[in-house]
Amino acid sequence: MTKITYVEPDGSRIEVEAENGSTVMENAIMNGVPGIVAECGGACTCATCHVYVDDAWTETVGGPSVMEEDMLDFAFDVRENSRLSCQIKVRDELDGLVVNVPTRQG
Ligand code: FES
Repeated sequence: MTKITYVEPDGSRIEVEAENGSTVMENAIMNGVPGIVAECGGACTCATCHVYVDDAWTETVGGPSVMEEDMLDFAFDVRENSRLSCQIKVRDELDGLVVNVPTRQG
């Protein structure tokens, strides 16, 4: 199991144990993390699963694909560490990952 922490805009933290192979978005939805909407269910066509990857993790997580980058254009307040959480697959090396939930989606 891989630990992921979601940090809400108010600073509250939600820690979950995620299964490898699932996505950061799926774990947010399963655990009722506020602020992750995921309207399209992970198809990379809605941009409502936007998160900011914690600075310490951006390199390990890596950057978005071209398709994801195009979709990120529709997200609110996109920054350098923006990712669509449905496109981040949970794996061993992400144990301890911290992502920040934006103040709003879209
Ligand atoms: Fe729709 Fe991620 S859930 S783009």
